[in-house]
Amino acid sequence: MKVSVKVPATTANIGAGFDCLGMALPLYNTITIEETVLPGTGVEINVINDESVASDLILEHVPMDENSIIYKAVELLYNSIGQSPSELKITVQSQIPIARGLGSSASVIVGGLLAANELLGKPADEVALLSIATEVEGHPDNVTPAIVGGLVLTSFEDDGHVVYTKLDWPEEWCLTICIPDYELSTDIARSVLPKEVPLEDAIFNAKRLGMFVQAVNKKDEDLMRLALQDRLHQPYRMKLVPGLDKITEKLKHEEDVLGCVLSGAGPSILIVSRKNNLDKIKNIVKETWADMNVKADIMTLPVENEGARIVNE
Ligand code: HSE
Repeated sequence: MKVSVKVPATTANIGAGFDCLGMALPLYNTITIEETVLPGTGVEINVINDESVASDLILEHVPMDENSIIYKAVELLYNSIGQSPSELKITVQSQIPIARGLGSSASVIVGGLLAANELLGKPADEVALLSIATEVEGHPDNVTPAIVGGLVLTSFEDDGHVVYTKLDWPEEWCLTICIPDYELSTDIARSVLPKEVPLEDAIFNAKRLGMFVQAVNKKDEDLMRLALQDRLHQPYRMKLVPGLDKITEKLKHEEDVLGCVLSGAGPSILIVSRKNNLDKIKNIVKETWADMNVKADIMTLPVENEGARIVNE
C-alpha cells in the first residue's frame, strides 16, 4: 500500500507571535510512504526536488537514514499503538525551500505522520497528530497550520496537548514572501536567543499579540502596524539576516506597507501590505539585497486555508 500527503509551507511568528502564530502558504511538499514488498529492507528515504521552484535544495538536509525527522515522527506514531515501523519507503517531493523559515521541516514531519496514520488505519486523531508533530518539531507554530491550514494562534500546553484557534486573514492584506538564496538553520537561529528577556520586552510582545488578534478581526491597519513589531526574537536574529535592518528601514517609508517581519526563524522576510505598489515594494527588497550580492525569490501569495491532505499520486 502507498499513501501520499500534500503539505503546505508555513510562515511562523508573524511579528509578535513568537512560537505561537503561524499561517499556511500555497507552496507544497508531497510525502509518500510505501510499504515495501520485501521484508528486511528497513526504512529508505528519498528526496526529489522541484527544480522549477528551488534549484539549490540540498539533499543532505533530510538525512537518508532512520535519524531523519520524518522517521522520528513516523516511529512515534507506530510506538503510540505499540508497533515499530519497518519496510517503509518514504519519498519527499520538495517544493518548499529548505532552511529558509518556510516550514520545510514541519511539512515533512506532518506529511510523514499523516501518511503513516493512513497506512495504519487512522489510529491517531488530530489532537494526537498535533502533539506528536510538535514533540518532534519543538514548537507548534509551523506544524499546526501545516495540519489544519489557515492562520492559527497555537499553544503547546504543559500536558503535551496542542490547543489552537483559527483567525481569518483579511483578503485586503497581501503577503509577500522574500526568500534569499542562502540558508539559516532554525537551530542556529534559536541558539542566538537569550534564556531570559527583560520584563518590558515580554509586556511589549504580550500587548502586540493581543493587538494582532484584534487587528485581523477588525481589519484595522493602524493596529496591524503595531502588531507586527517584536522584541522577543527579531532583535537577536537581525545579525543573522544581512540586509533585514536596511529593508525594514526603507519599507517604513512606504505607506502601503503595514509591516516587515522575519518568516519563522528567517532568513526569509514576510511583508504585509495593501494591494497597491507591490512591484515597488518587491524592488526595494530585491535591490537592497542585490547591493549585498544576495539573490532572492520574491512572491506574493494568498493564505492556504486547507491543511495537509491525502492525494492520489
Ligand atoms: N517559532 C520558531 C522560531 C519558528 O522562530 O524559532 C521556526 O520555524
